[in-house]
Amino acid sequence: MSEKKPSVEKKEVAKKASSTKKTAVKKTTTSTKKPVAKSSSPQKKDLMHWTEIKEKMSKFPSPSDIAKENGLKPIIEIKDLKKNYGKLKVLKGVNFDIYETQDVGVIGANGAGKSTLSEIVAQVKESTSGEIKYSWGDTKRQISRGMGIQFQESTYPEGYKIIDLIQFYLDVNGITVVEEDENDKEFLKKIECDKCKKPFFEKVKPSSPTTKHRCKRRNCGYEHEYNVADKFITRSHFDSLLKVFQVDGITHKMANAVSGGQQQRFNILLGVLHQPKFLILDEVSTGLDVESRTDIKQFVKELMEENGGTLYLVTHNMDEIEFLSDRLVTVDAGKIVDDVMISQIHEIGLDVSKYVDSFFAYRDEKYRKEGRSKNDQSE
Ligand SMILES: Nc1ncnc2c1ncn2[C@@H]1O[C@H](COP(=O)(O)OP(=O)(O)O)[C@@H](O)[C@H]1O
Ligand SMILES: [Mg+2]
Repeated sequence: MSEKKPSVEKKEVAKKASSTKKTAVKKTTTSTKKPVAKSSSPQKKDLMHWTEIKEKMSKFPSPSDIAKENGLKPIIEIKDLKKNYGKLKVLKGVNFDIYETQDVGVIGANGAGKSTLSEIVAQVKESTSGEIKYSWGDTKRQISRGMGIQFQESTYPEGYKIIDLIQFYLDVNGITVVEEDENDKEFLKKIECDKCKKPFFEKVKPSSPTTKHRCKRRNCGYEHEYNVADKFITRSHFDSLLKVFQVDGITHKMANAVSGGQQQRFNILLGVLHQPKFLILDEVSTGLDVESRTDIKQFVKELMEENGGTLYLVTHNMDEIEFLSDRLVTVDAGKIVDDVMISQIHEIGLDVSKYVDSFFAYRDEKYRKEGRSKNDQSE
């Protein structure tokens, strides 16, 4: 796949990306195949055997240790997370910390539990047991405000146009679109108190962002961390976002009537409008053409780097992992079975695609010997 240079417009949107964060080489392999589709034949000759890979990788510290050494704080801590659907055990004790700016790529066969895990992290589903801590909040609202989510599947309420849903989303997140000449104007922002749960109003200016706001309700006075800068978006920034995601031409169409690819791009747009610190993308490229995939990949990379955000990317596309992630996490049958840095994969002379192919060749062979099907997610 060729990497298309972002247009000036897109660059404006994403501003300058700092290139210091990623240690991984930006490789663009041509592989977009789904790991699950590999044959169950014995280890292929051109692949390094998984046991040899693991031996080579054993000399490296874990991604958590590397994060700690570099002073990165955990933003999400997942402890012994389990999820059952009746008798079906989908997550069987997931332990996993996510660190600020250490972007995670998650892979695994279909049915491994990847989406279940991302939906629980996103608070859309409840776990059966276990615990998740978020560094930026405790209440459901605080947590969801700091997160952006694009899901694999989406349905919209009937009778709403794309523009209505965008407006609704802006309102829910308290975001005001300001014209360029309004930067110095005072706006009355409604802030909902996290303690007394009632709204209060604060006069704020887009040009001089403030972060602390005391609830004006009598008997409350609770002081909030509320970043006003996050709550304004300039008209030109907003318009270029619509362009990057190619939503500008469909704003007056019914959300349920646009194509799958358009819905997909619209979903990601909603996921990033409030500039989240933590962004979950679950199979983001499904249904997109190559050009949109490349554009969105570039956009997400710049957004994360510019914002100091952290990405949680679930995908079958190894190019996306290579381009967007620092860390590769493999989920199999409801557990995390491998967790490494992408730079470590490069250090032993492989790329993500080859590494993942070796894992699946090994896994499929093991399942074959045990008489299990490739999609068997039981113990
Ligand atoms: N709402 C549900 N009810 C019952 N089973 C479910 C439900 N959602 C997912 N599953 C099952 O949980 C397993 C994991 O699904 P999922 O997390 O979507 O996997 P992945 O995203 O890795 O492909 C699958 O066997 C799937 O059929
Ligand atoms: Mg899934």
